Amino acid sequence: MSAIAVTGVEKSFGDVSVLRGVDLRAEPGSIVALLGSNGAGKTTLVRIIATLLRADAGTATVHGFDVATQAADVRASLSLTGQFAAVDDVLTGRENLVLMARLRHVDAPGAVAGRLLERFGLTDAGDRRVQTYSGGMRRRLDIAMSLIGDPPIIVLDEPTTGLDPQARLEVWDAVREASGKGTTILLTTQYLDEAEHLADRIAILHEGRIIIDGTLAELKAVLPPATVEYVEKQPTLEDVFFALVGGPRAASGGAGPDTGHQSAAATTEEHR
Ligand SMILES: Nc1ncnc2c1ncn2[C@@H]1O[C@H](COP(=O)(O)OP(=O)(O)OP(=O)(O)O)[C@@H](O)[C@H]1O
Ligand SMILES: [Mg+2]
Repeated sequence: MSAIAVTGVEKSFGDVSVLRGVDLRAEPGSIVALLGSNGAGKTTLVRIIATLLRADAGTATVHGFDVATQAADVRASLSLTGQFAAVDDVLTGRENLVLMARLRHVDAPGAVAGRLLERFGLTDAGDRRVQTYSGGMRRRLDIAMSLIGDPPIIVLDEPTTGLDPQARLEVWDAVREASGKGTTILLTTQYLDEAEHLADRIAILHEGRIIIDGTLAELKAVLPPATVEYVEKQPTLEDVFFALVGGPRAASGGAGPDTGHQSAAATTEEHR
């Protein structure tokens, strides 16, 4: 049984058709990255999976439960961390965790909070107000909160947007740590390298559909390796993404592998 199974999901807002038949799966314990440009519909899909929004057509199941007819079971199986950190600034890290543990009716909230602070390297900061935390600490706390009650599936909507490189690495570690304990993770991102480093499977959402879905190796196999003199260059995920989605690099056409590589580096730099 897939942890998340989405089949033929469609969603329009007025005349705007955002999702046009989305199919997506996440196997238990895996990390799946959903990649897409701004406005591609990532948050819309995530909200449908989390039962916050109803699809116009298609089906989605989470942990075997149907989002349309078994919403309460879905919510008990999944924890959503939204695009903007939901921690309370006035409370300390520990208080945020205890509050969430109480809301989820977890036994021994204090002990649970202590363990999570430890696990995410926040013990020293645990009794400080969250308003003094860095962006990375805040996001780590956010992920720790999503793990309270041990949901088998967590969904993270752009967990590292706006974070500096160090903070991103900290969040990646937190995600890997959760995945290592068997939690299934679906995360959305606009950062190609994030998907490349973190995900077991990568799905690209474009013009309302998943245009490709596979392991990094499978995605790279879409483009033949480019050869420059005697050196073979494997396509990066970025090459695959822009070849499929279009964009400045695809539009410029005929760019040699060298140029391609430089512009890939430049794009990565801009993201930081
Ligand atoms: N409640 C809504 N009412 C009307 N239009 C909406 C609504 N929610 C989303 N949209 C539109 O649906 C499209 C997809 O939005 P969505 O937030 O899902 O994209 P996204 O991939 O998460 O983008 P981003 O990377 O910027 O977070 C956008 O054009 C957006 O304006
Ligand atoms: Mg979004």
